[in-house]
Amino acid sequence: MADHTHPTGPVIRPRRLRQSAAMRRLVAETRLDPAELVLPIFVREGIESPQPISTMPRVVQHTLESLVDAAREAADAGVGGLMLFGVPSVKDAVGSGADDPDGILNVALRAVVDAVGDRLVVMADLCLDEFTDHGHCGVLDASGRVHNDATLERYAAMGLAQARAGAHVLGLSGMMDGQVAYVRDALDAEGFTDTVILAYAAKYTSGLYGPFREAVQSSLVGDRATYQQDPANATEALRELELDIAEGADMVMVKPATPHLDIVAAAAAMSTVPVAAYQISGEYSMVEAAAANGWIDRDRAMMESLLNIRRAGAQVILTYYAVDAARLLRP
Ligand code: PBG
Repeated sequence: MADHTHPTGPVIRPRRLRQSAAMRRLVAETRLDPAELVLPIFVREGIESPQPISTMPRVVQHTLESLVDAAREAADAGVGGLMLFGVPSVKDAVGSGADDPDGILNVALRAVVDAVGDRLVVMADLCLDEFTDHGHCGVLDASGRVHNDATLERYAAMGLAQARAGAHVLGLSGMMDGQVAYVRDALDAEGFTDTVILAYAAKYTSGLYGPFREAVQSSLVGDRATYQQDPANATEALRELELDIAEGADMVMVKPATPHLDIVAAAAAMSTVPVAAYQISGEYSMVEAAAANGWIDRDRAMMESLLNIRRAGAQVILTYYAVDAARLLRP
């Protein structure tokens, strides 16, 4: 049906630029590259073979050996980095395994840096929740509340152990006030001035962390609402970002990614350092569950989800799909 501007129909036809794959490729504003994808990866102490995680199909808890193999595979696929999480066999109130040089995460960091540290960026999760018997991200005071400033000391010790193990980037995910400045000071005082800090600046409390809690065998009862952000708030996220950048964060992160793409976009607009986004376990498992039912096409949903996070403004994406996506991008 002709419109009123021209007898033969619309003069302006946006569909012209969508008519072929070659044309669409030419004008695509956003592209994905394996170099900007980071694979989160789990290593568990004291197991003989990799253990499946029932809520995260195809993701496993690695042994030290299978971890190193998976790290090599990721490097071969061109992935930009790895984010390591440790699952200790013994947990206690202060998370002693976190800063023990022989603790699983620090042992794993040394092995992975040794194997692939010259080919990709090796990151370490810096948080106590995998190591505490109560499952919180910090140490507790007498009333059972997470004690901010006592936790900072534990983070400094953990960060130093990770830096000594060779980690290139420390991912501060605990959401304690002042954690970036505190860990930066501790690193610098020991000469680790080149160790990069990736601050989980805007980390929202979320029901979508559920599968991760199985992955790290978390003993948490309740939630993290007194330290992670309230999903109702956007302004608060910008304040957290500003604070972390002022405290010396080299990169900042928004997490979870897709439910908070407005925050990713806002962060990209205001940040003077690279912005990362974490497509978390629940985001992954929702795609996997729907795909397993035949309700959506897995590869298509995977690539679309990553592209959209990139389009919102994230320069770096942490995703359990990193290797699969990299293989599709560079067959
Ligand atoms: C804290 C941490 C968590 C995740 C990454 N770092 C758990 C939490 O905050 O409860 C979640 C990642 C995911 O769900 O994929 N160590």
